[in-house]
Amino acid sequence: MAKLTGREEAMLAGEDGAAVQKAMELLIRYADALGAEDFVETNNVAGVPGSAPPWIKQYYAADGGDYRAVFSRFDLDADEVVDIPRMNAFSCHLQGGMDPMLWREQGMSEAAFDNFRSDEQQVAEHGIQLLKTCTPYLAGNVPVMGEHCAWMESSAVIFCNSVIGGRTNCEGRESTSAAMLARRIPNWGFHRDEYRKGQHSVDVAVPVDEVFEWGMLGYFVGGAVQDTIPVIEGAIAAPSLIRHKHFGAAAASSGGVEMYHMVGITPEAPSVEAAFGGARRGETFRYDAAARRRTYETLNSVGQCEDVDYVMLGCPHYSIEQIAHAARLIEGRKVHTNAELWIFTSRSVKALADANGHTETLRKAGALLMTDTCSAISQAVPKGTRVAALDSAKQVHYLPAMMGIEGWYGTTADCIDAACSGKWRGRLA
Ligand code: F3S
Repeated sequence: MAKLTGREEAMLAGEDGAAVQKAMELLIRYADALGAEDFVETNNVAGVPGSAPPWIKQYYAADGGDYRAVFSRFDLDADEVVDIPRMNAFSCHLQGGMDPMLWREQGMSEAAFDNFRSDEQQVAEHGIQLLKTCTPYLAGNVPVMGEHCAWMESSAVIFCNSVIGGRTNCEGRESTSAAMLARRIPNWGFHRDEYRKGQHSVDVAVPVDEVFEWGMLGYFVGGAVQDTIPVIEGAIAAPSLIRHKHFGAAAASSGGVEMYHMVGITPEAPSVEAAFGGARRGETFRYDAAARRRTYETLNSVGQCEDVDYVMLGCPHYSIEQIAHAARLIEGRKVHTNAELWIFTSRSVKALADANGHTETLRKAGALLMTDTCSAISQAVPKGTRVAALDSAKQVHYLPAMMGIEGWYGTTADCIDAACSGKWRGRLA
């Protein structure tokens, strides 16, 4: 069993109340299952605490069917319902199931919205910050290097570990909700130096510069190394935050990559030697022109019909720079009468887009800027959608399979063009 400090023994004995006690009980079971010997303290937790659609509340009807019941029985896996106090760690709510304003356009019912609003009030009253995004690092939660975090959301986890040098495993709803109360997470996996060493090499032999190219490289890397840690070298120009965001989201989708090193770029890889940290090097995978073409074809294998009726941008949630770019591309044009364009971001970035006039530019063109969610998470696409165009390798991996639609992958410009022409004309240069 994991070794406990005096403070942790006290929490387990119930000195901080029943909810913290249940949280410690869950975390100890979790640590034992992982083989962790002790805990690290965390004051940065991101999850989806207590939020639940009506059918989950219905499942806990005998326990009261409310936020308290869901948090106790589902999140904390407790055998009884306990009072849930304000969280003890700095806690953030990640993406949710609908836009707080445009939920009707997303096809949500009045009842679903009422449930959403009630959950959101509970979340805020429990001291959890409503970031409502898969990109917490763009919305006010930026860890520092070495900081122990407990985050859900694969695209955020890989960004935290690789780009920032923060430390988090890909947590689940239960462990993050417990960590919000106990400020602890098992000292295992990416919290420990020995789990952060590179395992395989990726040699990039073709230039990778645009976001579109970084998405393809990420997709290739995930497929090659699966859930291990790649060390990437070669023809990579210093990637911006957005390029890292698309690369990591793609690598976490085609594989289960939770951390990567880019030699001379990411903070724990000043050299190849440092990236591997003395560990044995596994295989070397080569990303060349043929691999690039194969990746493009794989990403576009679910596209056949060139009549596009839905364009979705913003996976992971768009940054202000990406919204400004999309607004520039569409300014003076109109979304085609047979198509819809939805762009997803966080509430805080949308506030910036509003202030800068981008939301209005998009609206004039017939596009909608939405927050909190995305089509994959909410399973909401415009009514009658048959063919989608996407600039995210992650979204093209998931959305067509989830919704039974066709999907095209291309650049943001390809997608804006598809939205305005109703036709897919993207090609690999
Ligand atoms: Fe975010 Fe949805 Fe993509 S939650 S990472 S936009 S699948």
